[in-house]
Amino acid sequence: MVSKCLAALVAAATVLARTPAGFTPSSGTDLIVEYNGFAPLNGAVISRTVTTSQPRIGTLARLNGTSYAVMMIDLDIPTDTPPQTNTLLHWMQAGLTPATTPTQLNTTSGLIRAFLLLPNNATADTDAIAPYFGPNPPARIPLSHRYTQILVDTSGLTAQGTQALRTAAVTIRGFDAGAVLAAAGLEGRIVAGNSFNVTNPGPVMAAGNATRGGGGGGGASGTGTRGGGAGASQTVVPGVGAALRPGSGFVVGGVVVVGMVMLGL
Ligand SMILES: *[C@@H]1O[C@H](CO)[C@@H](O)[C@H](O)[C@H]1NC(C)=O
Ligand SMILES: *[C@@H]1O[C@H](CO)[C@@H](O)[C@H](O)[C@H]1NC(C)=O
Ligand SMILES: *[C@@H]1O[C@H](CO)[C@@H](O)[C@H](O)[C@H]1NC(C)=O
Ligand SMILES: *[C@@H]1O[C@H](CO)[C@@H](O)[C@H](O)[C@H]1NC(C)=O
Ligand SMILES: *[C@@H]1O[C@H](CO)[C@@H](O)[C@H](O)[C@H]1NC(C)=O
Repeated sequence: MVSKCLAALVAAATVLARTPAGFTPSSGTDLIVEYNGFAPLNGAVISRTVTTSQPRIGTLARLNGTSYAVMMIDLDIPTDTPPQTNTLLHWMQAGLTPATTPTQLNTTSGLIRAFLLLPNNATADTDAIAPYFGPNPPARIPLSHRYTQILVDTSGLTAQGTQALRTAAVTIRGFDAGAVLAAAGLEGRIVAGNSFNVTNPGPVMAAGNATRGGGGGGGASGTGTRGGGAGASQTVVPGVGAALRPGSGFVVGGVVVVGMVMLGL
């Protein structure tokens, strides 16, 4: 039974991650995104509690460029005129280089061998252009948000291009990835993508009472509105394409632990 599960998990790992339908710039190449054993890939829904710290990212095939940048964008922040939404930049890190050997990741989406993208310690740009802050959808419409990650080949990026990225990252609300890449001379340079959802358990609050929200407020604080139910019920729930939910979750001190039980065979 266990080996059957494992086979299913490994199989599931072959179709993983892409940008969501309708999003541009798009990519059909998997970007592996891993949070301490959780790999919310290809539309999976994940608890916000596991996404608080910056994930590891990688690709299944080794990339041959010299420099890459990752961006993570919330595509679904609420506005005062629902159901209209806006976007919010959650992370921009440039100066990443592909590892020369793959790393085995034991994840909720199976065993994945990925070439991690790591900060190049030999250069000065190891600091994030926009430091990571985790998902925190407020109790407003829509309760579920898509957090989309794109990987961009920045090999040979000019100083002006780097400056364009820095300038764009100053305004995190209304972040338009396509326009930003164009401004930086990086049009068509997206090489991989992924998206996952984090969902506020609700109920939806009236607009006038929901102004303290992190996601809706546009601030980088990342704190504020948060449903009371973070914990028991929400673990990794596969979305479209993410085939299965391994193991059963249990709660330790309010923190959800899931998946690794079955994988630790
Ligand atoms: C790098 O990889 C791309 C995509 O696989 C390929 O088209 C290109 O020729 C490669 N470049 C080099 C220098 O190997
Ligand atoms: C991943 O799982 C395999 C098989 O259970 C195990 O041998 C390996 O040590 C694990 N690796 C990590 C990094 O946990
Ligand atoms: C750069 O330094 C960090 C922190 O020490 C380390 O985790 C990472 O692996 C290093 N990157 C490379 C490419 O060696
Ligand atoms: C905010 O909540 C209070 C108390 O629940 C309620 O009386 C008030 O009408 C709400 N305001 C709006 C704008 O919905
Ligand atoms: C993810 O969020 C989007 C936007 O709210 C929603 O349309 C979609 O149904 C969500 N996906 C899942 C699997 O909950």
